[in-house]
Amino acid sequence: ASLLAFNTLGLNQLCDEIIVVNAKENLINTCLELYHSDKAMMVLGGGSNVVFTEDFCGSVVVVQTKGIVVEQQGTDILITVEAGENWHDLVSYCVANGYFGIENLALIPGTVGAAPIQNIGAYGVEFKDVCESVEFFDLDSSQLFEISHHDCQFGYRESIFKQQLKDRAVITAVKLRLSSNWQPKLEYAPLNSLNADTVSATEVLQTVCIVRQSKLPDPKIIGNVGSFFKNPIIPNERYLVLKQQCPNIVGFTHDDKHTKLAAGWMIDNAGLKGFSIGGASIHDQQALVITNTGDATGTDICQLAMYVTDMIEKRFGVTLEVEPRLIARFGEVTL
Ligand code: EPU
Repeated sequence: ASLLAFNTLGLNQLCDEIIVVNAKENLINTCLELYHSDKAMMVLGGGSNVVFTEDFCGSVVVVQTKGIVVEQQGTDILITVEAGENWHDLVSYCVANGYFGIENLALIPGTVGAAPIQNIGAYGVEFKDVCESVEFFDLDSSQLFEISHHDCQFGYRESIFKQQLKDRAVITAVKLRLSSNWQPKLEYAPLNSLNADTVSATEVLQTVCIVRQSKLPDPKIIGNVGSFFKNPIIPNERYLVLKQQCPNIVGFTHDDKHTKLAAGWMIDNAGLKGFSIGGASIHDQQALVITNTGDATGTDICQLAMYVTDMIEKRFGVTLEVEPRLIARFGEVTL
């Protein structure tokens, strides 16, 4: 079967079979059976953070389970959402109903169940800021668990689901703690020109959509997986040395001791905007994005990513890490 319709990068790689599941029971049973067979398997949400670097020798389970349950606790809104719901639709639904907290995360492609895995984040808000708990089925012990925000070990584009629970947890639902009390979060650059006293959640949502649409290619038109690299986090002392060598380099405070470098700025500064290998190209508006200009293969994407990594290493002495998951013939790999 072709994975073309199941990955936003639009790679036409193959797999043995694609199984679309619409009910939680079915999701659990299907995954359990495959897990205990000798075939490779993987679980896919919207396919917006994966790169199929070659054909996948195994079964792909596509999660399309639906359902939203809302519970009000004073001004807190606890909302339980099945894994297969679309993330952006959830954001719109929440804003329309006066449930606030995720409006800055508008237009992020993908499903709700995938959101905790890499702790999606944009414009000063991360999934972890609103996460109450995550429900998942552990294929190893055949048990359903619900773990708290704290136990998810969230970090920058990180969680337990990419570490200890990798390849064994199937996320079935998430619970968010939102609020009916409107408090805009406008610290991040393109939002800080809005007036905190008068701006509405709808306006924040719209602004985020406009900013994203101006920089990030629409995956329905040009294949991409958003940022292709993470913004590297380096010790402050190293940042100061780099800053002397390249005074214009862009960095943001990460914590007391670390600075997060804008990888997009470095790739841009290295003159790589528009550079391509085969059908893979560095996006013109945002150098952190790799696009599929039409007929890219998984190999083109990997070669371009390696080229970029090499150039940045040579120019700045900084090692870039790939942000999406790379899936090769038998499962996840690194570049
Ligand atoms: N920049 C350039 N040239 C470029 C791209 C960026 O000079 O080609 C500079 C910008 O001018 C800005 C800085 O780099 O000063 C940061 O750029 P931007 O605000 O566009 O954000 P980013 O760091 O490139 C991160 C996230 C995005 C998220 C935005 C907004 C990562 C890996 N990416 O990008 O998330 O939408 O911030 O919060 O952390 C994603 O993960 O897929 C994603 C799109």
